[in-house]
Amino acid sequence: MCGIVGYAGGRNALPILLDGLKRLEYRGYDSAGVAIVGSALQVVKDKGFIANLEAQLPAIAGSTGFAHTRWATHGAPSKVNAHPHVDCTGKIALAHNGIIENFAALREKLEARGHRFVSQTDTESLVHLIESYYEGDLEDATRKALHEARGSYAILAVHADEPGRVVGARNESPLVIGLGPDENFLASDVPALLRYTDRVLYVMDKEMVVITPKGVAIKDLEGHAVTREPQRITWSLEDAEKGGFDHFMLKEIHEAPKAIHETLLGRLANLEVDGFLSEGITSVKLVACGTSYHAAMIGKYILEEIARIPASAELASEYRYSQGPTDRPLVILITQSGETADTLGAAREARRRGCKTLGITNILGSSLTREVDTTLYTRAGIEIAVAGTKTFIAQLIVLYLIALKMGQDRGTLGYDDLDRLKDQLRSLPRTVQNVLDRSAEIRALAAKYGNARDIFYIGRHANYPVALEGALKLKEISYIHAEAYAAGELKHGPLALVTPQTPVIAVAVQDPTYDKVRSNIGEVSARGAPVLALGTSGDRELAKYVDDVIEIPEIPWVFSPVPVSVALQLFAYEVARLHDCPIDKPRNLAKSVTVE
Ligand code: M6R
Repeated sequence: MCGIVGYAGGRNALPILLDGLKRLEYRGYDSAGVAIVGSALQVVKDKGFIANLEAQLPAIAGSTGFAHTRWATHGAPSKVNAHPHVDCTGKIALAHNGIIENFAALREKLEARGHRFVSQTDTESLVHLIESYYEGDLEDATRKALHEARGSYAILAVHADEPGRVVGARNESPLVIGLGPDENFLASDVPALLRYTDRVLYVMDKEMVVITPKGVAIKDLEGHAVTREPQRITWSLEDAEKGGFDHFMLKEIHEAPKAIHETLLGRLANLEVDGFLSEGITSVKLVACGTSYHAAMIGKYILEEIARIPASAELASEYRYSQGPTDRPLVILITQSGETADTLGAAREARRRGCKTLGITNILGSSLTREVDTTLYTRAGIEIAVAGTKTFIAQLIVLYLIALKMGQDRGTLGYDDLDRLKDQLRSLPRTVQNVLDRSAEIRALAAKYGNARDIFYIGRHANYPVALEGALKLKEISYIHAEAYAAGELKHGPLALVTPQTPVIAVAVQDPTYDKVRSNIGEVSARGAPVLALGTSGDRELAKYVDDVIEIPEIPWVFSPVPVSVALQLFAYEVARLHDCPIDKPRNLAKSVTVE
């Protein structure tokens, strides 16, 4: 969604705001703007990337303000719809992440009272509403306005007559406070703060905050003070930078072995998984969106194979509005950001149905952690590129841990099985490193296959969702049309699209469906499609049936989604690089989607 950053302190605000904003650009990048209170309120904004805004910014003096980078929901990406939005007096400026659902009714009422609107955004109704309540205290006016506004928001507001104060509020969109000596910060996400502080406080739903150079005051929407202990962030600024790689995505793909290692650390020996207890669970439903949904789909196979427990996966956006059967599975909600609106909605629905809920997220203190009974963290470190890579791998690792724990508790795994599976999990960082060491080979294959207009991905069983995820990665960052099918489904329709111009990427590692996949490869080869297979190292038979093979080290099939996914991430990355695409910030997308 959008990214916001605010500052109140003794330094010149502009460079601090721009620096913070650039670290939030993954949240949206169709327009950007700043509001700074110096001798007066100054607002500058424009369509396009932050770099475009920066290039035209005059030197604005002032030590209070905020900045915003937008991912459009209401109103096209344009200068007039860019944030900040100002009221009729030109004294109040507001930036917003989220959606004001009753904006049309508010606008109609405010226009009838003489307020002049200039944009097509939902946000502008809120700044005029605050103006309508303003009697010399921005915090008070904002509180009254928020009682009338419905929807999701993280907002920042300043008033020309109140220098040294930034007012913020949150409901269903993230907002974090950074604490410094004689200066304080507000931001949508921690990376914007890391250069200045590692002490943070999370603002919760339906709370307001006022920062000044000397302090921070959190209150609920009724105006009652809230006290909360600060937390220390363990990520460093270096973690949030590219570290010599051309793109964050490439750096993050290469961080997969570390993400696996960290996610397993201290959890494997005794299967102590952050207080997760499996007693009384007879079935599991995995719910998520996008890449996390593909992890959920793979999770079904992992849980069924290792723990022998019935499992199913469902899209969060579908689950939250479905009727649902009357049984009460454990509902596992998977979300990298912990802020995806559909997944949070699904968590609430699961609890409403009386299900136990378990969240898997990468972000400490994110909204999901407050919606579920238990949270298991992936410890992948910060992920900046919009395309999820190492966090997806870490999600799979947590799912293996859950399966082992359930397998142990349910007695479906003997001691020997358990030890063997644990050893295999421990060796996964090495297996993945082996794939990463083939980067040059994968780059050459990307050059060979990456000029097609359409590419098909096929896989079966646990590697069907792996194919789906491979295709999603390619679509997202290279804009090449890619579709994935369960290989056995080709003959039921999609085969009509297969021609010598449509390369097929086939996941054909040694798993229970290997022979069947080989037959499916035969079906596409017979139609002239070039085939690039991901096969098990040393499989000489496979090489006879396909044009090229990316070799995946031999491991038990249940773990194969991990190295195969890393190979497909690298392939998508190299194709996108070939086409000179904006890999870390693909068009129309944002890292976390905090609206429905
Ligand atoms: O933060 P979440 O894991 O809940 O995000 C879900 C999807 O929006 C996300 O996975 C999306 O599909 C990414 N662009 C994948 O690369």
